[in-house]
Amino acid sequence: MTKILIVEDDRNTLSGLTEILTQENYSVEGIDNPTEAIKILSKEPFDILLTDLKMPKMSGLELYERTLSFAPEMKTIVMTAYSSVKDAVEAMKRGVYEYMTKPLDLDELFIVLEKAVGAQKLVRENVALKKQVQATYGFGKIIGKSEVMQRIFTTIEKVAKTQSTILIRGESGTGKELVARAIHYNSPRSAKPLVEISCASFPENLLESELFGYEKGAFTGADRQKKGRFELAHGGTIFLDEIGDISESVQVKLLRVLQERQFTRLGATETFDVDVRVITATNRDLEDALEKGTFREDLYYRLNVIPVFLPPLRDRREDLKLLLEYFVKKISVENKLSTLVISEAAMKLCLDYNWPGNVRELENAVENAVVLGEGSIIEPEHLPFGIHRKRKNAPSADFFANTGATFKDKTEVAEKFILEQAIKEANGNKSEAAKILDISLRTMRYKIKRYNL
Ligand SMILES: Nc1ncnc2c1ncn2[C@@H]1O[C@H](COP(=O)(O)OP(=O)(O)OP(=O)(O)O)[C@@H](O)[C@H]1O
Ligand SMILES: [Mg+2]
Repeated sequence: MTKILIVEDDRNTLSGLTEILTQENYSVEGIDNPTEAIKILSKEPFDILLTDLKMPKMSGLELYERTLSFAPEMKTIVMTAYSSVKDAVEAMKRGVYEYMTKPLDLDELFIVLEKAVGAQKLVRENVALKKQVQATYGFGKIIGKSEVMQRIFTTIEKVAKTQSTILIRGESGTGKELVARAIHYNSPRSAKPLVEISCASFPENLLESELFGYEKGAFTGADRQKKGRFELAHGGTIFLDEIGDISESVQVKLLRVLQERQFTRLGATETFDVDVRVITATNRDLEDALEKGTFREDLYYRLNVIPVFLPPLRDRREDLKLLLEYFVKKISVENKLSTLVISEAAMKLCLDYNWPGNVRELENAVENAVVLGEGSIIEPEHLPFGIHRKRKNAPSADFFANTGATFKDKTEVAEKFILEQAIKEANGNKSEAAKILDISLRTMRYKIKRYNL
């Protein structure tokens, strides 16, 4: 049964529509508040969102855009008064499926709903088909066949059409930068510049002048005028990486640009209007920073319009093998080598490892192995030590025979294993484990910290 969520602030229209569509055998839920609608939609999947366009707290377009990070396959139909058809057309440009003018013509509504159901079925079938026939899965350069990644691809495709600010979250090495680029290059702004800046790599005052530029004489050393990154990104996209690291004063300035779409160069009186799409990324726990008061709440809400979460690699094991093979091929081609094969033992090591550095660590490991591999097969000894060290099982004779590992590497692996065994035997009780090994509790604590046990 097709599930429809109706969002309409006029209660009479809402109850009328809910009743009619229920009679037509749709499974219908109705709500008069878009914020509540987001909560409902993020908890359970709906096929169609039928929403009023003009609502007091949040427009239907904004509601649609906010659903893209968790329900990208849903089809959205907006309802609007005849006088604001222009807004509805704009909404369609940004990816809304269809618009209907009020008062609604019911026959037309039924036709549009059926069309939307059909279109959605087609999208689903297409995704299934692609999965069957494609040897490589991905979105441009982003590889992944896990369900989460497939959903992220759909999200990217859809949010690219919008103007909304996007916040990309995820541990280091999960592909945040890759996603930011994919969004820009799939957006209507793709022919305009994509300006990237890593906020963490500038000291506070320099970051400010990098972002907003300065006039000649604005400060000592400013011997000529300089355009800021916002100005350079005009018409295109600005990607502010590591946004969790910016100072209070830059936060205030950034908030102003986001609110007013205007900025001032340092030392200037003139303000400039700027048309940029803002994408930000961070691997920090921003909610924690909010609580501690180091990140402004108003800025957080401005940035977090559409959140995109990239899961760590260890949580999507299906992608691991695919990425391994992809990188082996890619790096072999780049180095003009014949494509290597990964031995079963090496593959097993990789699959058992938890990859704290995510895809970046995997890519580096493969690069290392391809170069060290020389021959035609990647064996365990070609893999970085970390991969052996983090193994849950006893370190293998293979590892100790590894001529590339130093004495220190080997003793550390052995020591860590001995500690793990003792802690296990003591059921996690540290002082008990220390007794088993006949070492002091202090030493035990130190080693637990050191090996991250
Ligand atoms: N799904 C993926 N498919 C292919 N390559 C990927 C994927 N995810 C990441 N990579 C590659 O891994 C490396 C790290 O990715 P990226 O720089 O986008 O990570 P990041 O999340 O921005 O990390 P950090 O927080 O450290 O800046 C890049 O070389 C990128 O091309
Ligand atoms: Mg990055």
